[in-house]
Amino acid sequence: MRVYGVNKMDESHIIQKVDINRWEQAQEFELKSAEQAIGSDDDWNKWWYEKFEEYSVLKSKHYNNVLEVGCGPHTNVRYILPSITFDKLWFEDPLIQFYITHNLNGSNSYLRKIRNHVKKNPINYLLKLYSDKNMVIDLSSSKLEDLPYKDQQMDLIICINVLDHVNDFKKCMEEIFRVLKNGGLLVLGQDLSNKEDQMYCPESYEDIGHPIKIDHLLIEKILVGKYHPLFEKILTRDEGRNPKAHYATYLGILQKETIQ
Ligand SMILES: C[S@@+](CC[C@H](N)C(=O)[O-])C[C@H]1O[C@@H](n2cnc3c(N)ncnc32)[C@H](O)[C@@H]1O
Repeated sequence: MRVYGVNKMDESHIIQKVDINRWEQAQEFELKSAEQAIGSDDDWNKWWYEKFEEYSVLKSKHYNNVLEVGCGPHTNVRYILPSITFDKLWFEDPLIQFYITHNLNGSNSYLRKIRNHVKKNPINYLLKLYSDKNMVIDLSSSKLEDLPYKDQQMDLIICINVLDHVNDFKKCMEEIFRVLKNGGLLVLGQDLSNKEDQMYCPESYEDIGHPIKIDHLLIEKILVGKYHPLFEKILTRDEGRNPKAHYATYLGILQKETIQ
C-alpha cells in the first residue's frame, strides 16, 4: 500500500488511547446519532456485508459461540446468521440498554418485518427469532476493553466500525484475542486514518464521535503472528465510506493462530 510520501516513522496521526472523559463525550454523541441511525434502518451494515463479499468465508459452518462486540443498534451479525449455524449468540455494547429499549421509526421491509414480530428494534427481533428456535442470546453492556467472558470462549467474533469509538484500542485487541478460541475467527472492519487525513481533513481529528485514529501499519503490527487472514482487503480512499476523512478501510476475516 502507498503511504503517500510521508515518513513511515512519523506516528503523530495515531491516537490509540483517550482518557475516560473524552470517551464518554464520544459515547454521548454516539447515543444521539444512534437515535437517527435506528430511524434510518441501517448503520452501513449492508455496505460492510457487500464489501466482505457476503461473508462467504464464514458460510455453512457451525460456531458454538458467536459474539458481536460494539454491536450497535442494528448489528452486522444479522447478515451472517442466516448462512451459519450456532449455539449461542452474544451481544456486547456499552449502549445496549438504550438499543434494546428504543423504538423504531423506519419504514423499510426489514423494519416492517421486525415490527410484525416484536414492535421494537433489531436486537429484540433477533432475541425473539432465535429464542423461538431454542438458541440462547446473551447481552452485555461491558466495554470491549474489559469483556466479561472466559479465555477462549468464543468461536466467532465480529468487530465492525467499533475500534475508532473506543477508549483504548490496544486493550480492545488484547481482549478480543483473549476471548477468541485458538483457530476461532475474527471479522474486523475498520476505517483508517493517516497523516494525509490529519493534514487535509483536520475536522476528522476534531470529530467528537471518533476519538481513536489507527492506520493499516498499526493494524498489521497488532495482527502479525496472532492471526492468519482467510480474507483480507484494504479499500482505497475512494472505495471507502467517507473518502474525505479516511485514506483507507481495513477488512479482514482472520483465524487466530494456535498458540501453545
Ligand atoms: C458506529 S457504532 C457501530 C455499531 C455496529 N458495530 C455497526 O456497525 O452497526 C459504534 C459502536 O461502538 C460502541 N462502542 C464505543 N465504545 C466502545 C467500547 N469501549 N466497547 C465496546 N463498544 C463500544 C458504541 O456504543 C457504538 O454502538
